[in-house]
Formats: sequence, structure tokens, C-alpha cells
Amino acid sequence: MTRKVCIMGWPITHSRSPLIHNYWIEKYGVEDALYERFAVRPEDFVATLRDLSKLGYIGANITVPHKESAFAALELHDANAERLKAVNTLVMTPKGFEGRNTDGYGFIANLRERAPDWLPASGPAVLIGAGGATRAIAAALETEGVPELRIVNRTKARAEALARELQLRNARIFDWDEANSALDGAALFVNTTTLGMNGAGEIEFSLEMLPRTALVTDIVYTPLETGLLARARLQGFATVDGLGMLLHQAVPGFEAWFGIRPEVTPELRALVLADM
Ligand code: ATR
Repeated sequence: MTRKVCIMGWPITHSRSPLIHNYWIEKYGVEDALYERFAVRPEDFVATLRDLSKLGYIGANITVPHKESAFAALELHDANAERLKAVNTLVMTPKGFEGRNTDGYGFIANLRERAPDWLPASGPAVLIGAGGATRAIAAALETEGVPELRIVNRTKARAEALARELQLRNARIFDWDEANSALDGAALFVNTTTLGMNGAGEIEFSLEMLPRTALVTDIVYTPLETGLLARARLQGFATVDGLGMLLHQAVPGFEAWFGIRPEVTPELRALVLADM
């Protein structure tokens, strides 16, 4: 019997997850396995989720705009999804589908791969943004032992709500026009907003106050080198782009569904890049 997995989203045409998982299915010779796109309208999501197993699926990824609805509709979650109140991966268990969230894992795994010298304890991390991605990354960085999270968001109230809801222990919230003081002495700078994406504006903050030893990272990967990363690189900072987070967040799901821990290879990176 075919082991079917899908990605549920609306719209879903731009998702790279089918490319990633089908690459691994072929590479590891996983037999009778299939990873499909599944366009699900918001109004149909809960009913579709309920029928997922009957439709023959053994697992799924969940993307925009369904991550929070999936959390609310499921009875089982792992601790991380429970904390984030958002789900991006479904794994079948004897008691039904369990919701997990691998976004934070993907972020950290990418940093470890691309910047092996970065140590969580080396200093404060500056996070720009307060959306779903920011939540996953903030929780993951705290778990890794980052001494302080400095959150800067255009809408300050959203950053305050994020810190409160996640019960972050060492978070400080900064005004958008006070980003300079957030950068002072930091060891990591992460853009988690949509700024820098093709067609969006750019992060305009001066990086002057950031120590030269700090790592500058972006979760945007279209383009691979955002204005922020280009500027940081010219100023001598080490940088990490956002593509690897997308690739690494897929690893725990594939392993749970098919029993093989897949590798994020340069070949996979090139494949996804060629598709953009
Ligand atoms: P996701 O859940 O995918 O992370 P989101 O919830 O839409 O996305 O969050 C987008 C982030 O980008 C937010 O932090 C948003 O800031 P606001 O909370 O103030 O809306 C930020 N963002 C988007 N466009 C922006 C812009 N032009 N200037 C500054 N921040 C922007």
C-alpha cells in the first residue's frame, strides 16, 4: 500500500516541500511512498483534517494559513507545538495524528550547519519581527540557551504579546526606532519579517552597533541574498541565508514518516534553488 503524505495550504502552488520530500523518497529508494500537494481552503480545513487518514495519508505538513487551525483541531501535540500553538507537521500515532512544529529545529540546524562556530551562549540574539516564524525561532533560541532575546517589531504590541504568550524568560522588547540599542553587544541578528523578499521593502537598520563577531541571518530565501545579507557581508559580518531553514525543517517529518533520517545535501540545495 502506498504511504501518502501531503502538504496542506491555501494557496499551495509555491510550496517547495513536494520537491524536497520527493527528492529524498527517490534518493533513499523509499518504496510505495508519495508526497503530494493538497490545496485546502480555510473553510474546508477542519473537515479535511478529520478525514485525512481515511483519504489514505499517514502524515502531512501544514502551511499558511492553517498552522494555528491545525493546532486547535488536533487533540495530540508534542511539547513544542503545545508551546507555539501552531503545527507544521502531522505524524500518525496509535491515538491519531500528533501535531508537531519543526520550524525552530530547522532554524537551529541550519545555523549549526552553516555557522558551526556560533555558540548559543555567546551573547544576546536580536530578532526582527513578531510573526509565526519569530515565535518558533524565539522558543528554539531560548531552549538552546541564548542568554537574552531582544525583539524589535514595527508593531510593538505584537512583540510584547509574543514574549508574554511564550513566557520567554529573558526577552526585552525594543521600539522600531530604537533598534540601534538592541544591536549593541549582540551575537546574533535574525530577520524574521518578510522585509527583503522580492517586491517587499528592505531592513534599513544600521548595523554599526553590532559587534563584528556577530552572525547576521535572514529567514527570507527569495532572493537568497537579501539586501540585509548583502550589506552585512560587505561590512565583514558572517552571514547565513534562509534556504537551509526550509530544508532542515523537513528532516524530522521525513524521518518520522519513513524511518530514514534524510540528509540536507548541496545537491538538494541546488535543486530547490533551480526551482526558484
Ligand atoms: P509569519 O507568521 O509568516 O511570520 P506574519 O505574521 O505576517 O508572518 O509576520 C510578518 C512580520 O513581518 C511581522 O513582524 C510584520 O510586522 P508587524 O507585526 O508590525 O505587522 C513584519 N513586516 C511585514 N511588513 C513589514 C514592513 N513593511 N515593515 C516592517 N515590518 C514588516
